[in-house]
Amino acid sequence: MYSYSDRINNLSESITIAISTLARDLKAQGKDILSFSAGEPDFNTPQAIREEAIKAIQEGFTKYTAVCGIPELLQAISDKLKRENDLNYTTKEIIVSNGAKHSLFNVIAALIQKGDEVLIPTPYWVTYPELVSYSLGTNVFLQTTQGNNFKITPQQLKDSITPKTKMLILTTPSNPTGMLYSKEELQALAEVLKGTNIWVISDEIYEKLVYNGSFTSTASINSDMLERTITINGLSKSVAMTGWRIGYLACKDKKLCKLIDNLQSQSTSNVCSITQRASIAGLDGRADEEIKKMRLAFEERRDFACKKINAIKGLNVNTPDGAFYLFVNCSEIEYDSMHFCKSLLEKVGVAVVPGIGFGMDGYFRFSFATDLKSIEEGIKRIESFCNSH
Ligand SMILES: Cc1ncc(COP(=O)(O)O)c(C=O)c1O
Repeated sequence: MYSYSDRINNLSESITIAISTLARDLKAQGKDILSFSAGEPDFNTPQAIREEAIKAIQEGFTKYTAVCGIPELLQAISDKLKRENDLNYTTKEIIVSNGAKHSLFNVIAALIQKGDEVLIPTPYWVTYPELVSYSLGTNVFLQTTQGNNFKITPQQLKDSITPKTKMLILTTPSNPTGMLYSKEELQALAEVLKGTNIWVISDEIYEKLVYNGSFTSTASINSDMLERTITINGLSKSVAMTGWRIGYLACKDKKLCKLIDNLQSQSTSNVCSITQRASIAGLDGRADEEIKKMRLAFEERRDFACKKINAIKGLNVNTPDGAFYLFVNCSEIEYDSMHFCKSLLEKVGVAVVPGIGFGMDGYFRFSFATDLKSIEEGIKRIESFCNSH
């Protein structure tokens, strides 16, 4: 009998992808389905980026590159981090990978082993606990509440730390809730970490999609945080480049960078050379006008969707500060979020993602990264479903 590794047997399919697949299957059967489950902008990649890619192909820029990225791209990322995030990372402290997900995989594989505890605020992005388990680490979930806008408190962080704590994963703005940590809140969390050897992963992939308040990079809080934080970012969400596969990490520990470079050199090697060249145009200001337009469109959709959903009896949602998701409380109607979402899909043809996939039942995630007309129709259907429940 052939067998598989325990590690791979224990890995779950992403619930987001499972719901999107179910929605696609129903659509293929001719059903009228509106999907709000995907985590990707509906906009095309900005023109300057597309043009740069075509130029790279025509110039024959189609060979292997350095594993961690081409020098011009590393420089563009270093400049961006300085200009927009007040972070000083040299090009030797940055590694470009196949999406932020790949950067996260690399860093968790490089740091986590059996016995290590990783602190993950709940609700979390689906991939974190799976990556920790794959590295044989132990997930320690820090439960947040809607009343606290899904943020962990300094006391909660303090109470969760044990001698085995190796890492804290922060996502700001968050997927699935859209909450954003303020500078003061990050400072308070930083105070708790002072004097420990705990790494912080700060996933800042939604950084450019902020509608209220201002974004602060975790590593910019102070020199102690700069040392312990691995900054994760990418162009998928902010520049509508999900299919190009481009993400990066920045960290001050050169040894860690070297170890991750080794891992990537033995697994995927460099990111597609054309994507790398094109991404420079997404970082150096050439795409800024289009990025701004996308942000404004998301903001309009957020305001519209929040107002409409909060008007539905039995549902309520906090207004997200960033990202493009609403984390809707449906517990008055049904606590079992998987059952709620399956019925919603089957009865009125609306696909949303059950909160349980993010570690929090009683909620569902509604992505507003789609056009206003579909959002309006989708919410009407959700309302009729809730009214008949
Ligand atoms: C919080 C968060 N981090 C990372 C990613 C991964 O993005 P990518 O691998 O496309 O760069 C996602 C995508 O959904 C996300 O929501």
